[in-house]
Amino acid sequence: MTAGAAERTPSLLETLPGRFYCDPAVFAQEQERIFETLWCCAVRAADLDRPGAFRTVQVGRENVLVVRTREGALRAFLNVCRHRGARVCAEESGTVRRTLQCPYHAWTYDLEGRLVAAPNLARMPDVDREERGLLRVALREWLGYAWVCLAEEPPSFEDTVVGAATERLGDPAAVERYRAAELALGRRISYDVRANWKLIVENFMECYHCATIHPELTHVLPEFAKGFAAQYYVGHGAEFARGAQGFTVDGGAGFGRLAGLADAQDRRYYAITVKPQVFVNLVPDHVIVHRMFPLAVDRTVVECDWLYAPEVVASGADVSRSVELFHRVNVQDFEACERTQPAMDSRAYRRGGVLVPSEHHIRAFHEWVLTCLKPHMSEV
Ligand code: FES
Ligand code: FE
Repeated sequence: MTAGAAERTPSLLETLPGRFYCDPAVFAQEQERIFETLWCCAVRAADLDRPGAFRTVQVGRENVLVVRTREGALRAFLNVCRHRGARVCAEESGTVRRTLQCPYHAWTYDLEGRLVAAPNLARMPDVDREERGLLRVALREWLGYAWVCLAEEPPSFEDTVVGAATERLGDPAAVERYRAAELALGRRISYDVRANWKLIVENFMECYHCATIHPELTHVLPEFAKGFAAQYYVGHGAEFARGAQGFTVDGGAGFGRLAGLADAQDRRYYAITVKPQVFVNLVPDHVIVHRMFPLAVDRTVVECDWLYAPEVVASGADVSRSVELFHRVNVQDFEACERTQPAMDSRAYRRGGVLVPSEHHIRAFHEWVLTCLKPHMSEV
């Protein structure tokens, strides 16, 4: 077959061109226009369980420090010392006693980010303590997570996070009934995926691949085997297979239904996506939250939390069979993404690939990305 356009049907939808998945210039624009502009889900609030507990995460090109204050609030700052720019907290997580002290020259900040001490500070009248505190980052809490936004003027959290996540659920209150903020962490797995973040989103958006690579998932959710479902947003609640007792790797029983769920939510799987980097899966006895952290054009760390009723975790119950189901799905999905990444700069993919009808909604994601980048497309 020639590469000519004669074979192309006018209605055929194509993906973004290959370079959108492998060109560092495109990635730099995405970091600035998407990850440094929108709300990103950064840290599970309960991980910071005492004053001074902190966690650092990469958001766009910035390293962000989230810390629990003495009053019990969460604050987020750019993890950059205002003296000469060293990272204040070099570790990914930890607990400080009262202050955050830069390891370079010992400038010291309180948990509200104020500069409170520095060697010889009294002899440096030009250094304005108020002015030289850590730079604050906007922070909101929802679903038990701290969401941060690097924009000077963050977009409405209610519209772009809560509203966008719930608008297509048959029942917009359905998410709240899982009371994710009150659940306990049963397992966390971090996946270092050698693929562009958009490949991961696109994979999650379609279920054309489910019959091929997800035998355990389609066993529990037969609807997904047909290939028409969209894995990323299942607002209607996909019904469990008749023989499945729970959302586990072998369809065996899980745990008791979470308190507060409506009968209609029993034996059903819901999935919601919050652009740009969060996927939430809701099943009767647990909630799975994925947070993506794109680190390079071809590398994305995905942190996945399995959350259960506090009494389930406190009892020491074995959660491994329910963790194993979505862990396998993750491994299967991420392997598929890693299999496509090396071809993104092939001449065979210069114009991109094809979106079959059950993937047409991915076009809306591409249009969203292009809209975010549009004013700056000439730079990429
Ligand atoms: Fe932080 Fe000097 S760079 S104290
Ligand atoms: Fe999948």
